[in-house]
Amino acid sequence: MCGIVGYVGQKQALEVVVAGLRRLEYRGYDSAGVAVIADGTLAVRKRAGKLVNLETLLGSDPMPDSTTGIGHTRWATHGGPTDRNAHPHVSEDGRVAVIHNGIIENFALLRAELEAIGVTLSSDTDSEVAAHLLSAELVRTDGDLPEAMRRVCRRLEGAFTLLAIDRATPDLVVGARRNSPLVVGVGDGENFLASDVAAFIEHTREALELGQDQVVAITPDAVVVTDFDGQPVDATVFHVDWDASAAEKGGYDLFMLKEIAEQPKAVADSLRGRITAGHRLQLDEMRIDESVLREVSKVVVIACGTAAHAGMVAKYAIEHWTRIPVEVELASEFRYRDPIVGPDSLVIAISQSGETMDTLMALRHAKSQGARTLAICNTVGSTIPRESDAVLYTYAGPEVAVASTKAFLTQIVAAYLIGLYLGQVRGTMFEDEIRRILDELADMPRRVDLVLDTTEPVRALARELVAAPSVLFLGRHVGYPVALEGALKLKELAYMHAEGFAAGELKHGPIALIEDGVPVVVVVPSPRGRAVLHDKIMSNVQEVRARGAVVIAIAEEGDEAVAAFADHIIRIPAVPTLMQPLVATVPLQVFACEMATARGLDVDQPRNLAKSVTVE
Ligand code: M6R
Repeated sequence: MCGIVGYVGQKQALEVVVAGLRRLEYRGYDSAGVAVIADGTLAVRKRAGKLVNLETLLGSDPMPDSTTGIGHTRWATHGGPTDRNAHPHVSEDGRVAVIHNGIIENFALLRAELEAIGVTLSSDTDSEVAAHLLSAELVRTDGDLPEAMRRVCRRLEGAFTLLAIDRATPDLVVGARRNSPLVVGVGDGENFLASDVAAFIEHTREALELGQDQVVAITPDAVVVTDFDGQPVDATVFHVDWDASAAEKGGYDLFMLKEIAEQPKAVADSLRGRITAGHRLQLDEMRIDESVLREVSKVVVIACGTAAHAGMVAKYAIEHWTRIPVEVELASEFRYRDPIVGPDSLVIAISQSGETMDTLMALRHAKSQGARTLAICNTVGSTIPRESDAVLYTYAGPEVAVASTKAFLTQIVAAYLIGLYLGQVRGTMFEDEIRRILDELADMPRRVDLVLDTTEPVRALARELVAAPSVLFLGRHVGYPVALEGALKLKELAYMHAEGFAAGELKHGPIALIEDGVPVVVVVPSPRGRAVLHDKIMSNVQEVRARGAVVIAIAEEGDEAVAAFADHIIRIPAVPTLMQPLVATVPLQVFACEMATARGLDVDQPRNLAKSVTVE
């Protein structure tokens, strides 16, 4: 939530910052603003709404030349999405400009304290207090902005990334982080601060990870990192292994369409280097000792949204392969219910961004209970992998559209690799069984490609159903989380009532929703797998059809039995049961994307949402 960019160097700061904000807009689009230092004064422009509104303002009210600046794109928490609540916030004396991502939990207290000494606050945000506190500390520290920042941070509670500039020190940007993302881009005669490397990737691919409770000061030629007490800290250097083009639309109208199309490559990349020539699994990143993995008595997956659906899919596979019980828990619920985890639990945190606050807090709780923690993550240098005992990266490349697509498929693949690895290490699987499944996985990019070649019927169907008030999704076994994922995609993109159900659960209540013409999408299990699943879902299909539902079957090639019961059939390649989510999800992504487009909605930036949810 909220995108943050800071720049100091030789270039026009405004251009660098606005280009960075364009790449970070997926993090929040309630308002945008920039501040630069020119001729010993601060210039600030900000506007409610998407970045384009700010750009229009900058066209009619240009900013002065400057080589130092900060910029912000906001997902509103405290205070509505208005001009006055847009960042940057400026101290009353006009000296400091501040941008913030996160929530300052003790802001009410700090606000009251500031008001008591006569400070007039001009917004409804929690963030503004930081600007006034900083200006007061600058007086006490004789203009030492990093030290002023450290002093302010020691007073703040909650989660924050802060960037500040002081008109008195024109070649300096200072940042701080606690529980919110901030990375440093290291350039030649220029340096960058940002929530995400995408903001500076066109200038440099060399980056530094900041740890918790650290303050960073950048000038054109130096990066200095300390903790909140001023002790120097060595930040970890990393190289970003994708380039700027990976974060662009590359000829597609929408990031989501591009990311759907990238899924075969994303799956292939996530497998690469992890399967030996001898078809054995080799996970060099697995920094948890094999002896520890042999003692694991349960696996707990913590994740949110789409990532949680990936975890639900993985549960079926990991339990089947390893016979270790797997619990899948919404991260936002986990730590509040006193979960039973300990040293013999393996807690797997799944997160595309690596910054989701609910998942991070659940991870920390698991660690505090002594559990071994393993992240499945797509973002190198992000907080969740940094704080986990080990990480398995998904090599999906940057996912920019708010709706998660390629991350989902690669999260399933990564979780499957972990399941197979546990099976290999614990000896619960025969080697030839592991080899067969790895071969199946290796064939999935080709299968997903086949699905992508045949999406036109799905698109046509979405257009046909554009006026439907509600769509229901049914699945069984691994098809159940796929149904949940199909419904989530439709809700978040097309703003339609959509719900996913375990098909067998329908008769216990939800079937009352069925009336004439209600579209019901059914993820049909393979008849070649466990035939009973197929038979049971056929019965469920008949139950809804008998009550007037329009049945859309997602069924494998060659499954002729569905024809008698379905109004529409979307064909997917015939694959083994546990692989089916990797092909069955794709038409549902396309369906939601096309539905939103047909409804004239903003697919990449749906209302009220942000890509990376860094507040609880
Ligand atoms: O970055 P994460 O994977 O931790 O994000 C988790 C969810 O916020 C995310 O999957 C969300 O549900 C997607 N927007 C759904 O498409």
